Amino acid sequence: MQSPRAACHIAIIMDGNGRWAAQRGLPTRKGHREGAESLRRLLKHCKKNPAITHLTVYAFSQENWKRPASEVADLMDLLRYFFKAELESLLKEGVRLRFIGDRSALDADIQTMLAETEARSAHFSQLTLCIALSYGSRQEIARACQKLASKALSGAIAPSDISPEMLERALDTHGIPDPDLLIRTGGDERLSNFLLWQSAYTELYFCDVLWPDFSGEHFDQALEHFAARERRFGGRHVA
Ligand code: IPE
Ligand code: IPE
Ligand code: MG
Repeated sequence: MQSPRAACHIAIIMDGNGRWAAQRGLPTRKGHREGAESLRRLLKHCKKNPAITHLTVYAFSQENWKRPASEVADLMDLLRYFFKAELESLLKEGVRLRFIGDRSALDADIQTMLAETEARSAHFSQLTLCIALSYGSRQEIARACQKLASKALSGAIAPSDISPEMLERALDTHGIPDPDLLIRTGGDERLSNFLLWQSAYTELYFCDVLWPDFSGEHFDQALEHFAARERRFGGRHVA
């Protein structure tokens, strides 16, 4: 049963890096660089709030592969840089890292980096940072269906055994609770293929601030809005 007040799992669509750079006449990669800095700051902020147990951030969508090759390369380099600069301090602070998305599309060195990071931080439990990379929710659900279909074909399960809970266990997010609150920065009000299954009852919060400008104060404002909402999960209002 989820608590009606404290948001334990926050998901963020970190949008607006390109516009932030364009407004300043800077190249897009500078916007992404500032976006990474914004995430670093927000992580520090979240660490101070013991109610938050999971933070899932959308860093690169499956559809983002359609962007110019130079931008994709910049984003992958930024990812490498972020890990080099931040990994040890994240581990020192006891942050568990998880990655969701189609890893097979990522460069081999990044795949290795992700696997090693998950293994090294697997025993931490206070705060889990889940990074969505090469992630698309529809593709994730399709992959989960493929796994279950193989099991059914081999006779390990019957098709009628397939339940929402079983499907959930086959998703990349297995073991991670559904998000309580989903924040999208940058002013657009859509999910862009992010956590479609998992956000069935998630509270949505859209804000106009571009991701590089998103601060701890903006984050706390979102938490305040969340705290004032009544979550009914389809049931009746309880006074
Ligand atoms: C979000 O910023 C980061 C990624 C999608 C990788 P954008 O690059 O989408 O920024 P806008 O939406 O163009 O401003
Ligand atoms: C969503 O932002 C993906 C990430 C923030 C990583 P996009 O900028 O890719 O989304 P659309 O294209 O505006 O829907
Ligand atoms: Mg965008």
